[in-house]
Amino acid sequence: MNFKRNILITGGAGFIGSHVVRLFVNKYPHYRIINLDKLTYAGNLANLRDVEGAPNYEFVRGDVCDYERMGELMRTYGIDGIIHLAAESHVDRSIEEPFAFAKTNVMGTLSLLQAAKLHWESLPERYDGKLFYHISTDEVYGALEMGEGLFTEQTPYAPHSPYSASKASSDHFVRAFHDTYGVPTIVTNCSNNYGPYQFPEKLIPLFINNIRTGKPLPVYGRGENVRDWLYVEDHARAIDLVFHNGRVGDTYNIGGFNEWRNIDLIKVMIKTVDRLLGNPEGHSDHLITYVADRLGHDLRYAIDSTKIKEELGWEPSLQFEEGIEKTIHWYLDNQEWMDNVTSGDYARYYERMYAGR
Ligand code: NAD
Ligand code: TYD
Repeated sequence: MNFKRNILITGGAGFIGSHVVRLFVNKYPHYRIINLDKLTYAGNLANLRDVEGAPNYEFVRGDVCDYERMGELMRTYGIDGIIHLAAESHVDRSIEEPFAFAKTNVMGTLSLLQAAKLHWESLPERYDGKLFYHISTDEVYGALEMGEGLFTEQTPYAPHSPYSASKASSDHFVRAFHDTYGVPTIVTNCSNNYGPYQFPEKLIPLFINNIRTGKPLPVYGRGENVRDWLYVEDHARAIDLVFHNGRVGDTYNIGGFNEWRNIDLIKVMIKTVDRLLGNPEGHSDHLITYVADRLGHDLRYAIDSTKIKEELGWEPSLQFEEGIEKTIHWYLDNQEWMDNVTSGDYARYYERMYAGR
């Protein structure tokens, strides 16, 4: 089959990547979608069961740090578009293992950039019709005080955690490749995502599962930190829009204008899970357990997504109340998925991490 485009999506077996792969495979049958993923603890092909047989989908297991292999992949598939999501993504892990974050997020992004640059420069049309689209986070902007305003595209970078420092560094490399060599790049910085297929080390799936199984809910510090939550399918829609209509060399912030204090969000989750399980109101309130705060815990993230709204017409489609209810339903209905990802290594990791808390 002759495909109109050959698009490489890295990290497509992870949480956000699987939603992006699903959207592109279904919406663009005339594009070939190549999902390149190392399948770390966070990558799970079960996230893509519904599209794995599609004629325009291929999975390749590989590491973005493997520079030679990335070049070979670009040539073999004639890659003309890259959506780069592969990363180590969890702040708590970055505090424990910072080297892994520098390796994948910084060196991996650089390896992919250089492979794309050399491949595209070897073609007669060079960069025409090509795009390297890098998916990043609002955490690169650092932390806001309560009532301080929102992160805009002009906010200076001030990362605090090893995770956000590694993402900030990768964003700088992407822009440097645009400014130095003319590689066509775009960067988007998104707020916290939630929805189906998120690995249960992150707040929302971890807590839904703990409420269901009657386990303690480890609230860091006093639960007063604020995050701006966006439903993952709305992020995937934004990625689709930016990939097709975004301005090369530019940056867009993506967020839901939806700030929640952790403790308030946790109370909504407890109430909703209890209701859906038929428990009386207040049944699981006692599970709230205040634990030592995360080191360097950023107080508040909040995104101003006016630019993407005004320039590309993107807006979140789901109200938070609807999104969180849908998400909780999904985790309660997909126990097999949850049991699968919480077994083995992952459980041992958490035993170590929460020892003594
Ligand atoms: P995730 O941890 O769920 O998935 C990451 C995926 O990358 C996994 O499938 C993993 O196997 C793969 N991967 C890791 N190292 C790799 C390597 N060396 N080579 C190839 N594949 C590798 O992460 P996510 O939450 O889906 O985040 C995806 C991207 O979006 C990341 O770049 C992250 O920084 C960014 N982001 C995430 C959020 C969020 O709230 N989750 C918000 C904004 C931006
Ligand atoms: P997380 O889902 O790890 O995302 P991020 O740190 O990238 O924002 O955490 C969201 C918020 O929830 C953050 O303020 C830390 C807090 N949190 C807890 O209080 N307890 C937990 O067990 C986890 C995983 C997070």
